[in-house]
Amino acid sequence: MKILVTGGTGYIGSHTVVELQAKGYEVVIVDDLSNSSVEVLDHIAEITGKRPVFEQFDLKDALKTSAFFSKHSDLGGIIHFAAFKAVGESVEFPLKYYQNNLVSLINILQGMMENKIRNIVFSSSCTVYGQPDKLPVKEDAPVQKAWSPYGNTKQISEEIISDTSKASGIDGILLRYFNPIGAHETALIGELPLGVPNSLMPYITQTAIGIRPFLRVWGSDYDTPDGTAIRDYLHVTDLAVAHVIAVERMLNGKMKQKVEVFNLGTGNGFSVMQVIESFERSTGVKLNYQIMDRRPGDIEKVWADTEFANKELGWKAVKSLDEMTASAWKWEKVLAQKGKG
Ligand code: NAD
Ligand code: WQD
Repeated sequence: MKILVTGGTGYIGSHTVVELQAKGYEVVIVDDLSNSSVEVLDHIAEITGKRPVFEQFDLKDALKTSAFFSKHSDLGGIIHFAAFKAVGESVEFPLKYYQNNLVSLINILQGMMENKIRNIVFSSSCTVYGQPDKLPVKEDAPVQKAWSPYGNTKQISEEIISDTSKASGIDGILLRYFNPIGAHETALIGELPLGVPNSLMPYITQTAIGIRPFLRVWGSDYDTPDGTAIRDYLHVTDLAVAHVIAVERMLNGKMKQKVEVFNLGTGNGFSVMQVIESFERSTGVKLNYQIMDRRPGDIEKVWADTEFANKELGWKAVKSLDEMTASAWKWEKVLAQKGKG
């Protein structure tokens, strides 16, 4: 069975390709390498013993996308990761985000309709919940007005898939990720942040390795036990496995609705200070940090209700926070050795 993975050389995509190939799926990656490197293909081959088929083009290009789908009309399903994801950049350049994230999705859905390809798994985000009224947050919690153009592209994409599904044979699984961190156990693939990281985990590892002088902890006056903000961090390989399960649910005709939504998190919230403590415990490395004011746009606390994903998808995140922070550190050291950290 052939599966298209868009954004398959990226962070979450590359880990998912590894899990798909481990289960015997034939993978075709489409990526324009705007935020990843072609060497990732070698590393996937090193881990799995198989090099995925790779086509490099921009999914915003309707003609190229249509030609791709005509050539690969035998696809069993699509996992669509390709998108821009930097929240701050999306505030500065909203059109860049609306154009890339929405036009690419529309071109893919068009190609699916034209070639009668039924199944799409979409990378959504817990950002659609904003600051939920009730925690842990369930899938039926109201979607709140997006704070950033990036977040808005996720909300609009979910609606585009739902509307298209109603009017066609297309089925969709929308996966709302919480905070994926960590890297593959081999440290052959991981997250490659461009420039100064925005996210907590790469900022921690870059500080520990000496690229950044100290971590700025954004806010210590939140209504949480230690005053720092709480998120639901999950290991990227657990997240990757969920995609394989989602694809199989579609292929095996197990869906109960044409569009289904699942939260992907561990169900446990950890504060910024707890992540720092885990990093220090799992690596033995002391971290420099300073408490700062809150970061504008940050929410106070969010973690997932994972019951639906556990029961209905049959998926559960298994890796601990210490495994996440230790694997992120192993990856950072590999990057440093290669002069890429
Ligand atoms: P990433 O940047 O590492 O991977 C995305 C890949 O898509 C990159 O390799 C990039 O080159 C490619 N790409 C982007 N635009 C493209 C285009 N027009 N045509 C072809 N290729 C294109 O990001 P990631 O962290 O792996 O995220 C994957 C998906 O998951 C994204 O949709 C992101 O919004 C979503 N997501 C990520 C997180 C997170 O914290 N990493 C959380 C929630 C949701
Ligand atoms: C986590 C916590 C920060 C950096 C982002 C996106 C969201 C979604 C998930 C894609 C927060 C704190 C961070 C630092 C810090 N992604 N922090 N110092 O904010 O939950 O959300 O990823 O869909 O759309 O916005 O993740 O890793 O940036 O922050 O103290 O240098 O770490 O304040 O509490 P976040 P994050």
